[in-house]
Amino acid sequence: MKLSKSIEELEYSQALESDKEAVEWLESNGRKFGQFIGGEFLFQKNADQIKVTNPADSSILAAIEIADDKTVDLAVTAAIKSQKSWYKTGGHARAKVLYALARLIQKHARVISVLETLDNGKPIRESRDSDIPLAIRHFYYHAGWAQLQESELAGQEPVGVVAQIIPWNFPFLMLAWKIAPAIAMGNSIVLKPAESTPLTAMFFAQLCTEAGVPKGVVNIVNGAGNTGATLSAHPNVNKVAFTGSTAVGRAIRKSTAGQSKKLTLELGGKSAFVVFDDADLDSVVEGIVDAIWYNQGEVCCAGSRLLIQASVEEKLIGKIKKRMETLRFGTPLDKSIDVGSLVSDKQFEQVSHLVKSGLKSGGNLFQCEQPDSSKNYYPPSIITDVDSSHPLVQEEIFGPVLVIMSFRTQPEAIQLANNTRYGLSASVWSENINRAMHVAPALIAGVVWINCHNKFDAACGFGGVKESGFGREGGKEGLYEYLKPIQLKYKATNGASGKKASSTSNVQHSTSSEIDRTLKFYIGGKQVRPDGGNSIPALNFDGSISAWVGQGNRKDIRNAVEAARKANGWASKTAHLRAQVLYFFAENLTVRKDEFIKRLMETCGVKKPEATAEFNATVSRIFSYAAWADKFDGAAHDAPYRGITLALPEPIGIIGLVAPDHQPLLAAISLIAPAIAMGNRVVYIPGDPYQNIVLELVSVMETSDIPGGVINIVTGDKNELSTHLAGHGEVESMWCWGDSELNKNIESISVENLKRTWCHENNDRDWLDMNAGEGTEFLRKATHVKNIWTPYGD
Ligand code: NAI
Ligand code: MG
Repeated sequence: MKLSKSIEELEYSQALESDKEAVEWLESNGRKFGQFIGGEFLFQKNADQIKVTNPADSSILAAIEIADDKTVDLAVTAAIKSQKSWYKTGGHARAKVLYALARLIQKHARVISVLETLDNGKPIRESRDSDIPLAIRHFYYHAGWAQLQESELAGQEPVGVVAQIIPWNFPFLMLAWKIAPAIAMGNSIVLKPAESTPLTAMFFAQLCTEAGVPKGVVNIVNGAGNTGATLSAHPNVNKVAFTGSTAVGRAIRKSTAGQSKKLTLELGGKSAFVVFDDADLDSVVEGIVDAIWYNQGEVCCAGSRLLIQASVEEKLIGKIKKRMETLRFGTPLDKSIDVGSLVSDKQFEQVSHLVKSGLKSGGNLFQCEQPDSSKNYYPPSIITDVDSSHPLVQEEIFGPVLVIMSFRTQPEAIQLANNTRYGLSASVWSENINRAMHVAPALIAGVVWINCHNKFDAACGFGGVKESGFGREGGKEGLYEYLKPIQLKYKATNGASGKKASSTSNVQHSTSSEIDRTLKFYIGGKQVRPDGGNSIPALNFDGSISAWVGQGNRKDIRNAVEAARKANGWASKTAHLRAQVLYFFAENLTVRKDEFIKRLMETCGVKKPEATAEFNATVSRIFSYAAWADKFDGAAHDAPYRGITLALPEPIGIIGLVAPDHQPLLAAISLIAPAIAMGNRVVYIPGDPYQNIVLELVSVMETSDIPGGVINIVTGDKNELSTHLAGHGEVESMWCWGDSELNKNIESISVENLKRTWCHENNDRDWLDMNAGEGTEFLRKATHVKNIWTPYGD
């Protein structure tokens, strides 16, 4: 009796992890770091510096030098110099280097964990048991992909030099997520750590030398936003991979527009944590601890919006409050604490300010302890009595603050969960597998967890949709972000030149009896007249009029997008059905073979064999994507947990297609067919000459069971129409073949709703070339992968 009483009254004493080794390492470096460029540590005279602090006690750990423009340029140059030979050493040689890095990180795991905790304020338990082991896993996993690259990723080559900009919430883990896949695939990189947490990156730089990473393959530059901005906009950088705030993601999209760079953005979130009344509420409570109090809530995919089915709301909130009382705050190096310090004074102020000002719009705050600015400690917090338009429900707080709402029905839960501009992740809690597997795909997010939250693995892609950004990290899909198709030396040969549709009256009149034919737009399954009422002549190659086509304007584009939006049922049709529709389309087109060949010859001025080749390739291409419709499917990942992760390719939504100016029939199908095969709806803007050709397809579409609104076609001025399309908030992606001016325009306008863009030089390929004109590259662009985590067992 006495014993049990004294056990109950036992107090935790501190169990501090030793910082001796980490401090020795800092001392041995004079507590000062410059840049890591070309395998050397570089210091500059009179460089500006930033103090690196420990947010738990405000002590100064070290200073870093800020890399100026010249230094950034040095780093990029070192990367360029090393890249080709790094790629040429081959997959096996690179695999050995990545493996060596994994082993070395493992060997130094303890000191890296301590450094991370000192610099960031996160509990040692988390850096030791989660961040660093996961970082190690990324190097092992990607060592494997380097080994398999030549066989499994044939036809692809590295993009070249990659700029990687990472945030402060998972400094070492983000470094691993970025560097491992990039160098595995044969790229060289320049990484910029966050200015508030650069220390573990400097430790990593030293390991690179030891692991035999060739000089210049990994370069690390220090500095704040300016250094990041210079690096990402550097003209010799081929790709930018960014993780951080949505605002900075937008700035990077803008500054890189028109530079032909690949870009991936992993941005903010406001992820829903959806609890049904049949969930195991005790597991839910532990899940909430993982979702919002892990890493002090400084997690992009934190489950920061809790949606509870009304019948269990009170009971669950009671349990959460009880659990909150047992969460322990303390010095981050204490092995028995749950919650540490926010990363900086700035972040502490931001979280405090957001909560304070948000509460002015209503809501009830519950905390077990008071915030403590001297230690940047913000206590676990919940906020109830808010609705979905409340600022605290809409804005990312990036701290340990959970907002709670309730719902009555399953459809209401889905609707509430999706009522956000973000789309990074979500979790569903239910013991009913039917319900969980129904709700998970309906949540608009890149990652969905069932009965868990904040699980990660290198084999499972991670990344968002909507304003959470685009691109994936991890998994095979993550590798393609660091690759590009091997450049085939193609140049369009046939029908490439032509005259634009023209509003001038200075055109020769054809002897054809068809010159008065007017071809309308195709919108929502109907042939529609232009809003402005104007038509323009579509000219044949010789300047004679082929037909009249509508001159579209902003209103016509809006109507086309609206029609596409209404056709969203297409995405939920079975792949089998989409395949059948495409086969039927091909069949109906085949019947019209002679007519189309004649039309191509007249319009484009090509000889019969060329016209026949283009027609035959068009039919074959429709067949290809009909074939792919039910074969470009997902994967089941064997990640290290009890469960499987389903990687499902999902359609993007509405895709704007801006066609090249040649091969008007084949190009149209080469873009439309893969997009709709994967369940997207499209708005198609033809290239400038021969706009009549795609409209000739409309009568074939009409007889082929393609639901109205899945394909929409608007003709007119290509530049003007595509600008309207890129600026439309409901268009999720733009594929564009245009001149550099148009491509730049499309990329910078797309910043508004963070559209993914895929821009090309107008004549970058011959569409007759099977390797260039069709294939999985198109299907990957037509989809994004959603990873659904499904644990099992008790
Ligand atoms: P941030 O987005 O400013 O910083 C992330 C990284 O980008 C850092 O390395 C920074 O130096 C760099 N950077 C800043 N401006 C840049 C520019 N113009 N061009 C290129 N690189 C630039 O994030 P910050 O200010 O530290 O945090 C503010 C808020 O952002 C947080 O409260 C949180 O809401 C969000 N955030 C989201 C993260 C995520 O994982 N999704 C991570 C960090 C912050
Ligand atoms: Mg720090």
